[in-house]
Amino acid sequence: MFKVNDIRKDFPILSRQVNGKSLVYFDNAATSQTPQQVIDVIVDYYSNYNANIHRGVHTLSQEATDLYEQARQKVQAHFNAKFSHEIILTSGTTHSINLVANGFSSLLKKGDEVIVSALEHHSNIVPWQMLCERTGAILKVIPMNQDGELVMDDYDILLTKNTKLVFVNHISNALGTINPIEYIIEKAHKVGAAVLIDGAQSCPHIKPDVQKLDVDFYVASAHKMCGPTGVGMLYGKEDWLNKLPPYQGGGEMIAEVTFEKTTYANLPHKFEAGTPNICGGIAFGAAIDYMNNVGFNNIAKYEHELLEYATEKLLAIEGLKIYGTSKNKTSVISFNLNSIHPYDVGTILDKLGIAVRTGHHCAQPIMDFYNIPGTIRASFSFYNTKAEIDTLVEGVKKAKMMLS
Ligand code: ALA
Repeated sequence: MFKVNDIRKDFPILSRQVNGKSLVYFDNAATSQTPQQVIDVIVDYYSNYNANIHRGVHTLSQEATDLYEQARQKVQAHFNAKFSHEIILTSGTTHSINLVANGFSSLLKKGDEVIVSALEHHSNIVPWQMLCERTGAILKVIPMNQDGELVMDDYDILLTKNTKLVFVNHISNALGTINPIEYIIEKAHKVGAAVLIDGAQSCPHIKPDVQKLDVDFYVASAHKMCGPTGVGMLYGKEDWLNKLPPYQGGGEMIAEVTFEKTTYANLPHKFEAGTPNICGGIAFGAAIDYMNNVGFNNIAKYEHELLEYATEKLLAIEGLKIYGTSKNKTSVISFNLNSIHPYDVGTILDKLGIAVRTGHHCAQPIMDFYNIPGTIRASFSFYNTKAEIDTLVEGVKKAKMMLS
């Protein structure tokens, strides 16, 4: 039995008031909330062993280094990477994608092809467009259908012997669709292309096994899974990470520096120039512990219940349309109310203490596909309740009455 009321006690923010009302936090796809167990780790770091890592013989530095490297091992275990040096700790998903896209500058040539999907967040579009501008590679797009699913027949046709890279999100941030990444990876490998999966939206819901997936690169952000902002991960197969050149130059990423020549450090340090987000990395490890304690099977089952409950209740409101109607989706509901602007609905909901995201969700091509300026997006986490969904439904009805 999933004890949501006990879980909620771990999250101090959930008991705050917003505009005189109890907070209903439904913007989890933008960022998740932080449990006390992770907050404690952050406070402990700055209270007891704040020091720079990998460079001090003193006790504080050694303690911080040990905990930071333990966190890397937690990330490794969570995503089931073969080696801990296949985990690069970055500032987040966007940083991870840019690191890979930059590295491929020296591996692609004019006329090579790369494939993106119509369901991407801007962070998994723009770095690749920049790569294509630098190299002369051609960007192709897997189209989507009205349900917000990728059209796999068209993907098969897009793949050619010139395809070098495919980059797709595991779950769409704007619609919640879970993409068939197993199929995408298998087919890409048949033509010799590498695959990067953007796991920013899957990491709070699914525990991916990068070895089983046989994926080349997998990226995610800590703040989407109960960790702090400013830290994330890149998994890359050892061979690929050895092939890619460093992204940034600086301290930590070198073996030896002279004015004539610099040699680079081994993995993972080759990609970790400068002082990293030490506290963030350690707290990322604590967030992974926390979520595994709750249990990803429990999370998936409970969030699916919330999704079904909210979908039924919201669809009962006349004039409400949901975008993203795939059967294979996670707990995200993007919707509009007649022709009312999403921003206006979001503003009224905020007055009622309900936090949702409105707009294009950094996924403008999806909004263009549906020919809408944006949506109202309610995204649920394992610490949300059906009672909160009832509050949202009443709020949407009120907004409709006020704005019609
Ligand atoms: N990518 C985040 C979102 O979907 C910010 O809201």
